[in-house]
Amino acid sequence: MENGTLKVVDSRTNASYELPLFKGTIRAADLRTVKTSADDFGVMSYDPAFMNTASCQSAVTFIDGDKGILRYRGYPIEQLAEKCSFLEVAYLLLHGELPTESELKSWIDAITHHTMLHEYFKKFLEGFRLASHPMGMFVSAVAALSTYYPEAKNVLDPEVRKLEIYRLIGKVPTIAAYTYRHGLGFPYVYPDNDLGYTENFMNMLWKMVEPKYRANPVLARALDILFILHADHEQNCSTNVMRSVGSSLADPFVSVAAAAAALSGPLHGGANEAVLKMLDEIGSKDRVPAYVEHVKAGHGKLMGFGHRVYKHYDPRARIIKWTADQVFKVTGSNPKLDIALELERIALEDEYFVKRKLYPNVDFYSGIIYQALGFQPAMFTVLFAIPRTVGWLAQWQELLQDSEQKIARPRQIYVGHEARDFVPIEKRGAAAAPPAR
Ligand code: SDX
Repeated sequence: MENGTLKVVDSRTNASYELPLFKGTIRAADLRTVKTSADDFGVMSYDPAFMNTASCQSAVTFIDGDKGILRYRGYPIEQLAEKCSFLEVAYLLLHGELPTESELKSWIDAITHHTMLHEYFKKFLEGFRLASHPMGMFVSAVAALSTYYPEAKNVLDPEVRKLEIYRLIGKVPTIAAYTYRHGLGFPYVYPDNDLGYTENFMNMLWKMVEPKYRANPVLARALDILFILHADHEQNCSTNVMRSVGSSLADPFVSVAAAAAALSGPLHGGANEAVLKMLDEIGSKDRVPAYVEHVKAGHGKLMGFGHRVYKHYDPRARIIKWTADQVFKVTGSNPKLDIALELERIALEDEYFVKRKLYPNVDFYSGIIYQALGFQPAMFTVLFAIPRTVGWLAQWQELLQDSEQKIARPRQIYVGHEARDFVPIEKRGAAAAPPAR
């Protein structure tokens, strides 16, 4: 048996079992054969936060956390960031292969054709206060797309999925730009289909009264690289949400909205915004040592540091640092970079962080670049959600094509009260003893 087996002895019964290993895992369902009696439910696996659980088989992204390796469909992220455009990488993630010239042209044309939003979206966004967080608007607007395209519910139809994938990849930059312009009280800018994906996004963000927006090519390429780096990352928190919501056969719009909601958390995609707040709180390079001691004393976390999988330098952070240099040659250096570099230098030498294998992750430097490009911190996670929409869709498509997958429905260990009788309201009040955990 090429996979091997796991031999276990149940000390409750002294019975021994030989469980088949499957690609280095055991199928949790096989644990159910370990019983204390014929009517026993059998053993279940318990894994809060899925610290050691594979939820699926996937061919999209490979990460080796100890070696700091990240590959999309087998291609190293370093090569893709250097040689590809974001839409080329988007094609790779969704189709499994790099596109030929004609495939890429058709792909770009299809997505470009779907960058417009229904005019009613402006009325929808008018319902948000000026100071509304763009991520809250982004999540709501993406979910609202499902009301414009009811046919998207036919998720098992490949042709329907293809069209909705075009729509989502095409429209998320437009939605993002609309949320940005809404916050500033600026008129919305329509997509300009003469421009590339990233240049058009910049056009919708920053075009004012000039007849034609011209993106700075260095800044446009930097944003394209950032999009490539953020496109997918295996079974992270928000992708897990995309798969879970998608497993109920919900449409891709509400599924992406749910995934974006997960991404907005400060421990996940919201970290890039939290990093800037942290750097602002530190204020200057000479205050970095005191802040590091503050964190080591258990007061908060070093935002942009640490990772569930990477126990080495996040390969994306290295590329982002290089990209930051290119951006600052155009925009002038951001003083926060000096604070970030000092924070990294100290943390990488400090036993507290070394012992816990805490290294800069993708969020540590991305926010500094976004700020140099002219974005407010509140937009940073929206900038993460745009490219990650591609990864969520690639994972969603894989889920729907996987014969092993069905509606996600984990079990639990019940630690609540045993059965007890109703208490009339006049007899309530004495706090019932909490159930034993
Ligand atoms: C992303 O999963 C993905 O792939 C995500 C992502 C993607 O592309 O989708 O890569 C994007 O979300 C990057 C992560 C962005 N988040 C942050 O930068 C927030 C700060 N980082 C931490 O919150 C934390 O590192 C996590 C959430 C990223 C990972 O947490 P884990 O794996 O659950 O680790 P843990 O919380 O159990 O920490 C282990 C120890 C603890 O100390 P002890 O209890 O052992 O004493 O390390 C400490 C933690 O307190 N620790 C940190 C720390 N991160 C972990 N201490 C200080 N600063 C930190 N950043």
